[in-house]
Amino acid sequence: MNGLRVGIAGSTGAVGIEMLRLLEETAFPVSELSLFASERSTGMTQLYKGRPITIKPLSENSFRGLDLLLNATSAELAEQFLPIAREEGVRVIDNSSAFRMRPEVPLIVPEVNPDRIDSTSRLIANPNCSTIQMCVALAPFDQAFGIRRIIVSTYQAASGAGKEAMEELIGQTKAYANGSPLKAEKFPYPLLFNLIPHIDRFEENGYTREEMKMVNETRKIFEKPEWKISATAVRVPVIRAHSEAITLELEKNYDPNTIITFLGRAPGIVVRDDPEHNGYPMPADVAHRKEVFVGRIRKDLAFDNGVSFWVVADQLLKGAAWNAIQIAQILNERVWGIRA
Ligand SMILES: NC(=O)c1ccc[n+]([C@@H]2O[C@H](COP(=O)([O-])OP(=O)(O)OC[C@H]3O[C@@H](n4cnc5c(N)ncnc54)[C@H](OP(=O)(O)O)[C@@H]3O)[C@@H](O)[C@H]2O)c1
Repeated sequence: MNGLRVGIAGSTGAVGIEMLRLLEETAFPVSELSLFASERSTGMTQLYKGRPITIKPLSENSFRGLDLLLNATSAELAEQFLPIAREEGVRVIDNSSAFRMRPEVPLIVPEVNPDRIDSTSRLIANPNCSTIQMCVALAPFDQAFGIRRIIVSTYQAASGAGKEAMEELIGQTKAYANGSPLKAEKFPYPLLFNLIPHIDRFEENGYTREEMKMVNETRKIFEKPEWKISATAVRVPVIRAHSEAITLELEKNYDPNTIITFLGRAPGIVVRDDPEHNGYPMPADVAHRKEVFVGRIRKDLAFDNGVSFWVVADQLLKGAAWNAIQIAQILNERVWGIRA
């Protein structure tokens, strides 16, 4: 075997486009690449290593002969098609929410729980985008001090809702400049010059489904069902990269003077914390980067053993495509062992 036969389902979407680019950039050992999208894109081409690849419609017959499928379609399509891929013997990494909370499905953030991937893993779930970046930032605190309570507010970019949502925000910006009315279809209200405290549907407990994903997925990833977590998820008029204000109540006290050095050593984290020179992470700087950026780190005033900080990551990369490629790299090491 000199490479893997890889498929991307949803290759034309916000996440799928990044997966395709990262497969090239990371020199993942691909011997054959298949691209799948909707009927709308069928017959069109996307470039991989300078070669045009024709997009095929996703169907029950798409999976035969593949080794690995990266899914970047909706949860509904994942439920319909991924069991068929698995039956065909294809290893699957799924970006949708369809299988994340199934007990037998590993839910992986490579900086936190890579050991949950082994040679028997047939379907691996990529967590929710806001959850991934929070978990990368929580991991060093969990290991060194223990976490008791997490309070998080998110500031989520338009592209988190997909390619068309991102285009809707750009369209509203152009309409505003032209003095035309702002159209909203992907979001419940126009997002331009606005904030919408509503992502995914409302649950009976008053939280939204996006907020409950952050609660439940974080507990599963860290295997800490006892963690007390409260999340508020807000859509903001940013094109790309989610931000989060996080406050932790820790089990042990910590030395605030060493916390920046301590966080800077953690895998996947870049600390940008220089208040004197207005140094802190912002979506405009973090977009297109693979790491999770942390800043505004301070001793929290509301909790004993509390710490507050600000986390920004490109949710199309670390929150989706890059996390999936990192998983694919680990899976390759543990299953096929193919070098690029
Ligand atoms: N956006 C994010 O930041 C993010 C982060 C983490 C996880 N996710 C998850 O990743 C998945 C993809 O999200 P996205 O933001 O990339 O969405 P998107 O931009 O709307 O892209 C959706 C993709 O699915 C394809 N598709 C739609 N209907 C199809 C059908 N009937 N058959 C085959 N393919 C079909 C689309 O193809 P066409 O172009 O042909 O329509 C497109 O390639 C979702 O499950 C989402 O929840 C997204």
